[in-house]
Amino acid sequence: MAKVNYNWFLLILLVVLVSIPCTNQLESSQVLTLMRIKKLLNFPAVLSGWNRYTDFCNIEPNSSLILVCYEGSITQLHMIGQDGSPMLPKNFSIGSFFTTLARLPSLKVLSLVSLGLWGPMPTGIGSLSSLEILNMSSNFLYGTIPEEVSALKNLQTLILDHNLFSGQVPDWLSGLPLLAVLSLRGNSLGGPLPNSLGDLENLRVLALSGNNLYGEVPDLSNLTNLQVLDLQGNYLGPQFPRLGSKVATLILRNNKFRSGIPSELSSYVQLQHLDISLNRFMGPFSPSLLALPSINYLDISENGFSGMLFQNTSCNEGLRFVDLSSNLLTGSLPTCLVSYSQTKVVRYANNCLTAGAQNQHPYSFCRNEALAVLGLLHSQQKKASMNKVALPLSMAGGLVGGVALLCVFIWLILQRVNVKKAKGRPSVRLIAENASTGVPPKLLSDARYISQKMRLGALCLPAYRTFSLEELQEATNNFETSTLMGEGSHGQMYRGKLKDGSLVAIRCLKTKKRNCKQNFVHHIELFSKLRHHHLVSALGHCFEYRDDPSVSKLFLIFEYVRNGTLRSNISGGFAGHTLSWTQRIVAAIGVTKGIQFLHAGIVPGVFANKLKITNILLDQNLVAKISSYNLPPLEENMRTEVQAGVSWPGSKELKIPARTKHEDKMDVYDIGVILLEIITGRPITYESEVELVKDQVSVSISADETARRGITDPVVQSTCLDESLKTVMEICISCLSKKPTERPSVEDVLWNLQFAAQAQEAWRRDSQSSDRSSVSLPQSSQLQLVIQ
Ligand SMILES: *[C@@H]1O[C@H](CO)[C@@H](O)[C@H](O)[C@H]1NC(C)=O
Ligand SMILES: *[C@@H]1O[C@H](CO)[C@@H](O)[C@H](O)[C@H]1NC(C)=O
Ligand SMILES: *[C@@H]1O[C@H](CO)[C@@H](O)[C@H](O)[C@H]1NC(C)=O
Ligand SMILES: *[C@@H]1O[C@H](CO)[C@@H](O)[C@H](O)[C@H]1NC(C)=O
Ligand SMILES: *[C@@H]1O[C@H](CO)[C@@H](O)[C@H](O)[C@H]1NC(C)=O
Repeated sequence: MAKVNYNWFLLILLVVLVSIPCTNQLESSQVLTLMRIKKLLNFPAVLSGWNRYTDFCNIEPNSSLILVCYEGSITQLHMIGQDGSPMLPKNFSIGSFFTTLARLPSLKVLSLVSLGLWGPMPTGIGSLSSLEILNMSSNFLYGTIPEEVSALKNLQTLILDHNLFSGQVPDWLSGLPLLAVLSLRGNSLGGPLPNSLGDLENLRVLALSGNNLYGEVPDLSNLTNLQVLDLQGNYLGPQFPRLGSKVATLILRNNKFRSGIPSELSSYVQLQHLDISLNRFMGPFSPSLLALPSINYLDISENGFSGMLFQNTSCNEGLRFVDLSSNLLTGSLPTCLVSYSQTKVVRYANNCLTAGAQNQHPYSFCRNEALAVLGLLHSQQKKASMNKVALPLSMAGGLVGGVALLCVFIWLILQRVNVKKAKGRPSVRLIAENASTGVPPKLLSDARYISQKMRLGALCLPAYRTFSLEELQEATNNFETSTLMGEGSHGQMYRGKLKDGSLVAIRCLKTKKRNCKQNFVHHIELFSKLRHHHLVSALGHCFEYRDDPSVSKLFLIFEYVRNGTLRSNISGGFAGHTLSWTQRIVAAIGVTKGIQFLHAGIVPGVFANKLKITNILLDQNLVAKISSYNLPPLEENMRTEVQAGVSWPGSKELKIPARTKHEDKMDVYDIGVILLEIITGRPITYESEVELVKDQVSVSISADETARRGITDPVVQSTCLDESLKTVMEICISCLSKKPTERPSVEDVLWNLQFAAQAQEAWRRDSQSSDRSSVSLPQSSQLQLVIQ
């Protein structure tokens, strides 16, 4: 009896034991579904252990297979095949496969990776309505990503990496409000990115690398949760993407980004991984990126970053990978990157750094590369102005005789005046006062919008036109003496106020001989080209006639520039304002660019301009403008042409007229004198003073920093970086070389000044970054303007 009871007890126990796993056993329909999946996938190795008796909910999970059940239903299914699995055979039907999957209605997480799945993504995906995470990487799915995916309202993660999807990144993705991870790496998606990406508020990871995407990256600044942005290997650009400030990983490698790095980046305290290599970034590299508090990986290699590094630049402790190679960096490698720790990789080859084991170009390489960019712009300018000039020149061909006469005639007037005045060159000199035109500050603040036109200077000026005599009489109150600004070597200069309220400067040239209007065509043609950002530009002209149709007076109308001369802004003469060191260099760069334009931006070039610091005017934005240039055609040009034996301007081959040897170097010398004054802050008026001060500067270059600062204008003495000061001093002295051939080219001067400005700015920003609150924007955009 007791034995029987004991057996009963065992039986009950057995039933209980058997029934315990039953509570977590898969519904039989789901077991059948899994068996069908195995068949549809052509019995892959990863599922080889499955049979009808497998306890699916208790399979030991491993790296290739995970099943998770909840209340008798599968909620998670991960099947990871062998890397590089071949496509499933021809009888595979992805449609049937997804129809089968839909019989697992509780499925929340589905990974089907490297299983050889092929075909277009079926629309049936939309019925997996519980799905939160879908990873179908490394298969052979093709066609567009079907809109049915947008029915998966719970979807948080969509990963379709390494498939063959084509078409565009869908814009209906914004209909997935919970989407946090979107990864479509390594497909064949093309076209621009939809702006709706910017609405995916919950997005944390956006990975679109290795596609054929092009165009600008939409504004992602509203994605405040975005931590990872990987756009590597597309054709995106040229603007740097706008991002939220929480980004930790930013990969823009190998695209077509071209702008500079926005300065906000230096305030991304969470940024850990920054890879912007293999783009066409230009402009200054900000060393403050090395010191970001979270940064551990920084790759800027294979770009055109310029600028200077200093030994004392600081780095973040955690930095373990830095690649600066193949840029145009100068200066010395920061000490914090020099340590030979095994855990740290530092690459900096193919720059122009002074020290370092890795292969470096000579300093001149980086300079020449930077010049090549300049040269490109330069030749574009030439082309543009040549195209414009070519037609009028050939039209003027018939007027050769007339023009020649005109030149002789102008030469005669000028000679006569010169005899009277004994000294003075035939150049137009303007007098500084109030002005109406200038560059809108917006343009200055956003240098990338400064176009070719702007470089040519036309953008901010009214079109060149003919003025009527009545208009000029009205503007000057019939040439009242109170409007007379000065009387130069060859005529008077008046200030006028036009009907629209703008101020102009009007030069009046009297003609002595009888000449009809046609004789001035060429002169006017050339005059009308004298329009550039860094010139006091030509606005128009006006003829006054005698009783017969011959011209009695020629009026030339110029823009009117307000803020005083460069000298008055340096020696504190003008409203007590004195330019900072950077502003001085920027002004000198402006002067040099104006000269560059006069030499090469117009045809024929205008040389020997007798620059003087008092003829450099500053407008309200402190843009330097040359107010005195050798107004063509002048007697010297004329003689040059004759000496060169070139028939001018009729000859077809002739594009740029020959000029006297080293005429360009005369202007370079004058730039040197201006630099001397910018450095020392002392007015320099006589040739003997030039020699004296030049010698002092020369000596101080080879002496020490104290000596250099000693002769520097006290106003900027303490705020200029020695490196920058020394660069300006050196280029100044070489401009002042006795032999014209030893003087640098205009481009050389420009490059050195830009270098000096960059060095100064980099240092200034560096010294400010300790005080994080004031990461400065306006100055760096001003610099970009300089670099353009
Ligand atoms: C596909 O063909 C193979 C034989 O080549 C066969 O074993 C398999 O069952 C077929 N699969 C389907 C889903 O029909
Ligand atoms: C993972 O587990 C499955 C079944 O449990 C087995 O067939 C497969 O070989 C295992 N894979 C690895 C890599 O251990
Ligand atoms: C997708 O799944 C595979 C296999 O588990 C994994 O290696 C990969 O990291 C997953 N993708 C993402 C973006 O998480
Ligand atoms: C960012 O969000 C603000 C407020 O919701 C909205 O006004 C603005 O248009 C958004 N910007 C973009 C680029 O979507
Ligand atoms: C860095 O070094 C330069 C000279 O190389 C020096 O002028 C500057 O003051 C230093 N900056 C800091 C922050 O120490």
